[in-house]
Amino acid sequence: MKKINHIGVAVNSLDDSIEIFKKVLNVNPSKREIVDSEGVETVFFNLGESKIELISSFSKENTISKYLSKKSEGIHHICIEVDNIESEMKRVINSGIRVLNDNPKLGADNKKICFLHPKDTCGVLIELSQEINQ
Ligand code: CO
Repeated sequence: MKKINHIGVAVNSLDDSIEIFKKVLNVNPSKREIVDSEGVETVFFNLGESKIELISSFSKENTISKYLSKKSEGIHHICIEVDNIESEMKRVINSGIRVLNDNPKLGADNKKICFLHPKDTCGVLIELSQEINQ
């Protein structure tokens, strides 16, 4: 485990929230991206060594739209950067924590990712993320 890579924030409107976070952070977003497999659109703001990810949903069937309809906007997950996602997943699973995807999947920002079950991690949704080497 290396560091917090980003904090994910679920939002209703990406355009509206970009304007708000531009005001707060005083920087422009670095990257806007549609993640088709997840039915979401994301944008990243770089802040030193970490990032803030805003996530909106364009499908009704995904976790973000379910989260938004249950809880409204807010902090959705914390992402921890790792060197080797397969071995970290094994280690975590062996310690009794469930994962939401058994194999790493493709996430935004050129990453392999895996989410841990929030019921096993004090209600915090934790994303493990490994940069994909070009
Ligand atoms: Co994320």
